[in-house]
Amino acid sequence: MTDINGIWAIEKLSFPTPWSRFSFLAELGHSLSHTLVAVPPRLRLRQIWGYLVYWVVADEMHILNLAVHPQHRRRGLARRLLAEGMAQAREMGARVAWLEVRPSNAPALALYHSFGFQEAGRRARYYDDTQEDALLLAYYWEEGEEEG
Ligand SMILES: CC(C)(COP(=O)(O)OP(=O)(O)OC[C@H]1O[C@@H](n2cnc3c(N)ncnc32)[C@H](O)[C@@H]1OP(=O)(O)O)[C@@H](O)C(=O)NCCC(=O)NCCS
Repeated sequence: MTDINGIWAIEKLSFPTPWSRFSFLAELGHSLSHTLVAVPPRLRLRQIWGYLVYWVVADEMHILNLAVHPQHRRRGLARRLLAEGMAQAREMGARVAWLEVRPSNAPALALYHSFGFQEAGRRARYYDDTQEDALLLAYYWEEGEEEG
């Protein structure tokens, strides 16, 4: 059972316009959607430190949400969540991974670029709260490549 309250607490600390608690519940009930969580070592505390939500639709992975609690950033958790999610999506048949990111989000851009994501387009005024464009990033797996 995933701790929705733990996820939602991180969400509210991480985004100017957070997803609702209901949005996370809906994702958990959706057959195309997958949620991964980062937890403390040896589960000594019943806490969630980060999460990744993605879909696999046909041969496409769509990364919908990724965040790490501010107290646990810069320890490699997002890198591990993304690597695991991309490996799972690849096993499910994904050939390309897509995501949207704010051009102002330097930490996320650095993370995605370090995985080899490249800019594939721009969605004008995608974010209602700031009217900021979204960068559309894509990662194409090579034939025979097992993991992202
Ligand atoms: C983006 C985010 C998920 C990164 O999580 P994290 O666990 O701190 O990231 P990691 O420790 O795994 O870092 C992996 C790489 O990302 C990049 N990175 C992460 N945070 C960074 C920062 N503050 N500044 C510059 N680069 C950063 C680095 O390349 C880093 O590798 P390095 O530590 O070897 O230099 C986290 O900052 C966060 O939750 N931000 C708010 C929510 C958000 O913006 N999500 C992404 C939406 S598209």
